[in-house]
Amino acid sequence: MIPLDPEKLGDKIDFDLIFGRPGSIHVEIGSGKGSFLLSQASQNPHINYIGIEWARKYYRFCIDRFGRRELQNVRMIRADASVFVSRMIPDSSISCFHIYFPDPWPKTRHHKRRFLSEGNIPFLHRCLVPNGTIRFVTDDAKYFDSSRVLFRTNSCCWDVVDFSPLPGTPFGEFVGTNYERKYRQEGRPVFAMEIRKRAWIGIHEYSPRRVLLNPSLESSDKIFRQS
Ligand SMILES: C[S@@+](CC[C@H](N)C(=O)[O-])C[C@H]1O[C@@H](n2cnc3c(N)ncnc32)[C@H](O)[C@@H]1O
Repeated sequence: MIPLDPEKLGDKIDFDLIFGRPGSIHVEIGSGKGSFLLSQASQNPHINYIGIEWARKYYRFCIDRFGRRELQNVRMIRADASVFVSRMIPDSSISCFHIYFPDPWPKTRHHKRRFLSEGNIPFLHRCLVPNGTIRFVTDDAKYFDSSRVLFRTNSCCWDVVDFSPLPGTPFGEFVGTNYERKYRQEGRPVFAMEIRKRAWIGIHEYSPRRVLLNPSLESSDKIFRQS
């Protein structure tokens, strides 16, 4: 079954149970119409994928789309990703979080609603396996810069590494999602970053340093920028 009912998952999700087999787990936050999961799950049948999508319309769209392709290695959950990640994912269980074009919440007073925030990053760290990664792509330069500062401020726990498109990604794109295609057609710049959890940091040793974000920071890091 592709849809997962959060009410029936217990305190912490048992991935082996819901997929009926062991395997590395990739989680996409905010799957939208599911283009990334469809492409990656088809190409990597040995990987187990979970999509978390809050909008009922897109959640159902994904279930229908994956069902028609008879994908065995994808599950969809309709949940608030912050709640799901903080409460339901076991420690050191996720190989990769994919976060593509998350809502940028551009107004300063709404920044706390961004998924990549001081509140959520420690939970992502807890959930990742050692050397597990977060792949983040956005068109929002300020969101990109502030996230990079959050990770670099805690460089004891994270390495910011070069981002490479995964095999099967359409030429000239980072991830091949609907928003990436739309924004590139509009000529917007797109920024990408990959962050790796340092292997030697224990789950309970992560005590994040608080960050005062510098609003004058610029997205000047050409390695990660593609227009
Ligand atoms: C801008 S769209 C990007 C969709 C897709 N990743 C793409 O690149 O085409 C953001 C998606 O995240 C979903 N979303 C926003 N907040 C969420 C949350 N707290 N939990 C789960 N999904 C969320 C929205 O419903 C929407 O589908």
